[in-house]
Amino acid sequence: MRRRPAAPAVDGRTAVVTGAGSGIGRAVAQRLAAHGCPVALADWDEAGLAETEASIDGPVLAQRLDVRDRQGQMAFAAAVAAWAPAPLGMVFNNAGVTVLQGVADAAPEDDEWVLDVNLHGVVHGVRAFLPLLLAQDAGVIVNTSSIFGIVGFPHQTAYCASKFAVRGYTEALRQELRDTQVRAVVVHPGGVKTKIVENARFRSDFRNRSADHAAAAREFATIARTTPEHAAEIIHTGVARGRSRILVGPDAVALDLLVRLAPTRYYDVIDRLDALVRRS
Ligand SMILES: NC(=O)c1ccc[n+]([C@@H]2O[C@H](COP(=O)([O-])OP(=O)(O)OC[C@H]3O[C@@H](n4cnc5c(N)ncnc54)[C@H](O)[C@@H]3O)[C@@H](O)[C@H]2O)c1
Repeated sequence: MRRRPAAPAVDGRTAVVTGAGSGIGRAVAQRLAAHGCPVALADWDEAGLAETEASIDGPVLAQRLDVRDRQGQMAFAAAVAAWAPAPLGMVFNNAGVTVLQGVADAAPEDDEWVLDVNLHGVVHGVRAFLPLLLAQDAGVIVNTSSIFGIVGFPHQTAYCASKFAVRGYTEALRQELRDTQVRAVVVHPGGVKTKIVENARFRSDFRNRSADHAAAAREFATIARTTPEHAAEIIHTGVARGRSRILVGPDAVALDLLVRLAPTRYYDVIDRLDALVRRS
C-alpha cells in the first residue's frame, strides 16, 4: 500500500458542489472560489443557483440538477470533465432536505423524498465523479451527513436514517479507496443558520412544540448557531488538512462526545438540557 500525502491539494483545484443555491453549499462554493478554485455548481433551484453564480468572481459552471437523477449526475460529471480549467480536486455531495414528522403518522412519500435526495443523491454523485478522481488518482469526495448521522432525534427519523447511511457509505468507501490517492470525507454539521427547515416538509414536530412550518423555521433559527460562512471555513480547513471526519460547530462536537459517553442515554441529557433552556 502506498502512503497518502498528509494533505490533499485543494486550493486552486476545480471543486464540484451540489446544493450550491443556498446555505452551506453556497458558502463553500464562495469560499473555495476565493481560494482560487474554479467551481462547478449544481442545484435544482435555478434562482438560488443563479444568485450564487453571480456572487462569485472566477470560473463557474452552473447547472440545474436534481441529485436524484442518476443519468443527470453522469451528464453533469461529463460536463465538468470537459469544462474544468484545473484538475478536479473536490466533489462536495452536499444537497439535502428534511421532513419533520412522527413515525406513527408519517407520510411515506415524504420519507422517500428525504432518503432519495440525501442518500441516493450522494450515491449517484459518488458514482458519477469517482471514475474521474480514480483516473487521475487524486482528489477528495466530501459527503455531507449531519450530527443527525451520529445522534437519533425524534420526528427526524427519515433524515437520521439518510444521514447515518451517508456516514456508513462514506466510511466504507474510504476503506475501499485505501490503495489509491483518492479520499472520502464525511461532514457532520450541527445547527447551521440556513434555509434547511424553511425548505423542509413539515407535518409535526416533537411534542408539537411548533404550531406550524413557519414556527418550526423560527425555532430552528434561534437554535442554529453556526453561520454558513463559518461552516464553510471549518469544512474547507478540514478537507485541506486531510481530515476524514469533520464536525461543524460546537454543538456537533459536544453531541459527538455525549454519544460516546452515553451511547444509549444521550437523549435523556439532550431532553434535560432542552427543558432547562426552555425554562430560562
Ligand atoms: N443547516 C443545518 O443545520 C444542517 C445540519 C446538518 C446537516 N446539514 C446538511 O447540509 C447540507 C446543506 O444544507 P443547508 O443547511 O445548506 O440547507 P439549504 O436548504 O439552505 O440548502 C440546501 C440546498 O440543496 C438544494 N437541494 C435540495 N434538494 C435538491 C435536489 N434534489 N437536487 C439538487 N439540489 C437540491 C436546495 O435547493 C438548496 O439550495 C444538507 O445535506 C443538509 O442536510 C445541514
